[in-house]
Amino acid sequence: MSIEKKPEPIVEVRNLTKYFGKKKVLDNVSFKVFQNELLLIIGFSGTGKSTLLKLICGLEEPDSGEVILKTKHIGMVFQGSALFDSMNVFDNVAFPLINNPTKLTAGEIKEKVLEKLRLVGLAGMENLRPDELSGGMKKRVGFARTIINDPDIILYDEPTSGLDPVVSNVIVDYILKLQHELNASSVLVTHNLNVIKKISSRVILLYDSKIAWEGTSQELFTAEHPYTKQFREGAVHGPMVVIKE
Ligand SMILES: Nc1ncnc2c1ncn2[C@@H]1O[C@H](COP(=O)(O)OP(=O)(O)OP(=O)(O)O)[C@@H](O)[C@H]1O
Ligand SMILES: [Mg+2]
Repeated sequence: MSIEKKPEPIVEVRNLTKYFGKKKVLDNVSFKVFQNELLLIIGFSGTGKSTLLKLICGLEEPDSGEVILKTKHIGMVFQGSALFDSMNVFDNVAFPLINNPTKLTAGEIKEKVLEKLRLVGLAGMENLRPDELSGGMKKRVGFARTIINDPDIILYDEPTSGLDPVVSNVIVDYILKLQHELNASSVLVTHNLNVIKKISSRVILLYDSKIAWEGTSQELFTAEHPYTKQFREGAVHGPMVVIKE
């Protein structure tokens, strides 16, 4: 059974330009995210990756250009876990449901929270507080909170930052699992080469406020393009100026 189906975009980023003060962080950036795809956005620190995600989910306004979303159900996993320290895991995950006047009963909320905790491998942890969790567990609580409303697209900002390579692998496996089980699309911002290696997908490399290179994760490791070479070697000196001297 192979019916060729043209993928539909779920997000269209059109000619986005964003300034902070006089600094142009994004300059006429355009790309699409297709249904069910996981798109990687990479680039050195300060190249506007987090800003781009915030523009996609509406937390920032562009100076020009637009973001066309084909869904209202969008979830964001922030850089850092952004959990409420005074609340236990259950209340952290339930937070978006409790603070939006939904028609859900307490029983339905409980059912949803426990289901999402199971999906991220945290069944039975609902009474723990954030300070009782490891870094990787906190990230997964953040994932559960983000998916509580069954988003069609999930934006992940550096989901493995601060985690060791093994836990990072576990996190990537959960991202791929959620992608699959929720039938969602994802945009994943990272500069972690091990993460990129584990994911087979389209990649956008941001540099100097623009898309400097586009290809697949496999090509990133093989392409003789000077930018991809510098990125995979983590070289300070190269065509991309990392540290302004
Ligand atoms: N709210 C803001 N006000 C002013 N400047 C900002 C704001 N948010 C981001 N910037 C600046 O915009 C640039 C891009 O920031 P952004 O956080 O998007 O980069 P990034 O690629 O996510 O970096 P990192 O890899 O370190 O997370 C930086 O120079 C940053 O200082
Ligand atoms: Mg960032």
